[in-house]
Amino acid sequence: MSDRIIPLAEARYVAPVPQVPRHPTAPSGRITDMRGRRLHDLRISVTDRCNFRCTYCMPSAIFDKDYVFLPQSSLLTFEELERVVRLFVAHGVEKVRLTGGEPLLRRHVERLIERLARIERPDGKPLDLTLTTNGSLLARKAEALASAGLRRATVSLDAIDERVFQQMNDVDFPVSDVLDGIAAAERAGLASIKINMVVKRGVNDAEILPMARHFRGTGHIVRFIEFMDVGASNGWRMDDVVPCREVLDIIGREFPLEAVGANYEGEVAERWRYRDGRGEIGVIGSVTQPFCAGCTRMRLSTEGKLFTCLFASDGRDLRALLRGGYSDAEISGAIGLIWQRRGDRYSEIRSSQTVGLRKIEMSYIGG
Ligand code: GTP
Ligand code: 5AD
Ligand code: SF4
Ligand code: SF4
Repeated sequence: MSDRIIPLAEARYVAPVPQVPRHPTAPSGRITDMRGRRLHDLRISVTDRCNFRCTYCMPSAIFDKDYVFLPQSSLLTFEELERVVRLFVAHGVEKVRLTGGEPLLRRHVERLIERLARIERPDGKPLDLTLTTNGSLLARKAEALASAGLRRATVSLDAIDERVFQQMNDVDFPVSDVLDGIAAAERAGLASIKINMVVKRGVNDAEILPMARHFRGTGHIVRFIEFMDVGASNGWRMDDVVPCREVLDIIGREFPLEAVGANYEGEVAERWRYRDGRGEIGVIGSVTQPFCAGCTRMRLSTEGKLFTCLFASDGRDLRALLRGGYSDAEISGAIGLIWQRRGDRYSEIRSSQTVGLRKIEMSYIGG
C-alpha cells in the first residue's frame, strides 16, 4: 500500500451539516466574522478536474489515471449554484469568482454565467463576476463567456518560455495557445485581464523579468504569486518560495516601480505601477506578507462544501441543506452562522507544524 492521498471522491473531506438557526436569531444581511471581517467574496469551484498537471497544484504522480474525481451527481447543479449565490449576495457578497480545477471544463459553464450575471446586489449594482482559468479553452470559449455576461477574467501563465511553461504544466501545453486565449478574451471585450504566475525558485524564477517585459504596455496585469503550502501533495518547502520583495527588486531594477493603493479593502495583490506609465503589476505574498487580517473570502467546493479558509481541513456540507428541503431563510441563517464563527488566519500562523497538516487540495476548493 502506498501512502498517497486517499482518492475517495465523496468522503475525502469531513463536512458536518451546518447548524440551521431558528428564527429570529438567524443572522441576515451583512455579516462579520469573529475578527470583524465582512463577507465580500464567494469563490466557487465548478469542477475538480483539470487538463493541466501543474506541479504546485495537481502533481501528476498523485493526480494520475487512477485518481477518482467527483462524479457528476455530486456536483452542485446550476440551479443550486444560482440559489446559493442569491443567498450570499443578500449577505453582502459583491464578487463571485468561478474556479476549479479548470472551470471551462465544466459543461455549459456559460449557462451558469448567464444565470449569475442576472443577479443584482441589494444596491442595484451588478455582481463582480469573474473566473480564473488556465486559458487552454479560452480561444474557443471567450466569445460565449462574454456574451453570457462575464466581464473579466484571470488567466494563469507561469512562464513565457516554452520549455519552462511545459515543465510547469506537465502536459506539454504550449504557451502560444494560452496567449491566443488571452487575445481572444481581449477581442471578446473582457476588461482588465490579469495573468497569474506562481513563482517557484529554481523552476521559473528566471521568467519573472521576461513575463513582466512581455505584458508591459499591453494593459494586462501580471501578478506574481508566492508558491503556497496548499493541500498535502505539492511537496512545498520554504526554500522554493521567492519572496515578493525579491520579485519587486528584480523587476524594479530594469523597470522602476512605484506603489499604488489597493482597489478595494482586502485586495489580495499588492499593486505596483511602472514609473514610465506602461502599466501595472501585482505581487501576492501569502507566505511572507500574510493578508488574513483583510480576508473576506468564503469558498464553495464543487460538491457544495463551504470552507472559510484556503488552508482548511474541513468544511460544512451546504449541499445537504440545499437537497434537504430547507427554506432560503434557513440556509441563509446557516451561512450567516458559519461566517460569524469564523476565526481563520492560517497564513499568519504558518509554521513547520502547520505545513504538514492534512489540508484540502487547491484543485478541489478552487484557487
Ligand atoms: P481580483 O478580483 O482581480 O482582485 O483578484 P483576486 O485577488 O480575487 O485574485 P485571484 O482570484 O486571481 O487570486 C490570485 C491568487 O491569490 C490565487 O490564485 C491564490 O493563489 C491567491 N489567493 C487568493 N485568495 C487567497 C486567500 O484568501 N488566501 C491565500 N492565502 N491566497 C489567496
Ligand atoms: N501556490 C500558489 N498559488 C497556487 N495556485 C494553485 N496552486 C497554488 C500554490 N500551491 C493558484 C495559481 C493559479 C490558480 C488557479 O491557483 O495562481 O493561477
Ligand atoms: Fe489546473 Fe490551475 Fe491547478 Fe494548474 S493551477 S493544475 S491549471 S487548476
Ligand atoms: Fe484567508 Fe485563510 Fe488565506 Fe488567511 S490563509 S487570507 S484566512 S484564506
